[in-house]
Amino acid sequence: MTERFIGLMSGTSLDGVDAVLAAFDSTGQLTVEADFFVPYPSEIRDEVLALQPLGHNELDRSARLAVSLAGYYARAVNGLLLAEGLLPADIRAIGCHGQTIRHAPHAGYTLQIGDLALLAELSGIDVAGDFRSRDIAAGGQGAPLVPAFHQNLFSHACTARAIVNIGGISNLTRLAPGQDVVGFDCGPGNMLMDAWIRRHLGQPYDKDGAWAVQGHSNPLLLGAMLAEPYFSAPIPKSTGRDLFDLAWLEALLGAYPASAVDVQATLLELTAVSIANATLSYAPTVRELYLCGGGAFNLALRQRLAALLPQLHIKDTSALGLPVHQVEAAAFAWLARQLLLRQSGNLPSVTGAYGARVLGALYPR
Ligand SMILES: Nc1ncnc2c1ncn2[C@@H]1O[C@H](COP(=O)(O)OP(=O)(O)O)[C@@H](O)[C@H]1O
Ligand SMILES: [Mg+2]
Repeated sequence: MTERFIGLMSGTSLDGVDAVLAAFDSTGQLTVEADFFVPYPSEIRDEVLALQPLGHNELDRSARLAVSLAGYYARAVNGLLLAEGLLPADIRAIGCHGQTIRHAPHAGYTLQIGDLALLAELSGIDVAGDFRSRDIAAGGQGAPLVPAFHQNLFSHACTARAIVNIGGISNLTRLAPGQDVVGFDCGPGNMLMDAWIRRHLGQPYDKDGAWAVQGHSNPLLLGAMLAEPYFSAPIPKSTGRDLFDLAWLEALLGAYPASAVDVQATLLELTAVSIANATLSYAPTVRELYLCGGGAFNLALRQRLAALLPQLHIKDTSALGLPVHQVEAAAFAWLARQLLLRQSGNLPSVTGAYGARVLGALYPR
């Protein structure tokens, strides 16, 4: 019997909510039947950004934002149901990532907000969420969570593969036959490029890297960026806006000034080099690399990755059956199903948790 789940991903890029309708057959085989995107208006993005640093009246602001976010999540769910002619009763559960406003595994917590009780009320569907905190409670990073899903869907019996998701943050998954899965955050993906072009040109992102290619990567600035200890820290590791934000960039620009367009070029190079270095360090024998996440659309970034990793065949996850913008949302549909089945959702080899754990909390409809 086929069971349908909805996965909702709203990542650090703050572009909006990616939703997928994921059908699992009785063997657990997944088919994504539809996707839907609800963009965030600038007020939502600004409010999330404003909650990232320490600030005034955070409790009230984050609770109010969580209520607003539930409305966007519900809109994404309704968009899918309407497009597919389905009813709430046709959906077994929603898996909702929430919106990260703090990620501090060293302090024992990570915080994804979104009023899931309200989402259950608005949708009439069981809602699963808060997937990261149990992994952190078990001594893990709580991130990245997608490698377990990548393993489930993309591993091959005799060929090693790397999956690189380029969202706000980029993360690498190494799937090698007979070996533990390796997975970690490489560093900033689109996040800093998005913030910089928004500040200077008022655009939400650098389409195809068209602005970046008009500049030149500044070697001194790039060197200073790569000296950030995160890049050479051992795995397990994960990161977010808590580290890689505009304040981080501005501090470096104070010492290594560059023109706005050269900064954009350098940020693109940083994303490419940090992914390439991660691949060379942790997946040196892999010959197949599959990209997913919105950064996979950035042509200039792809060209730099291909130049830095000439020994690799670089493709999209669509070559493995899942279009690049569906992968993360599908992972959260899968995590919701894992929770209902009381099956683990984390990989201790990735997050560093003491063991496999059932992840998440359930808000019945
Ligand atoms: N054509 C494109 N050219 C360059 N970047 C793109 C393009 N399309 C999408 N992106 C990038 O992808 C981001 C969204 O990626 P996404 O996978 O949703 O990340 P997240 O999970 O962090 O929200 C956008 O903010 C933008 O930076
Ligand atoms: Mg997104």
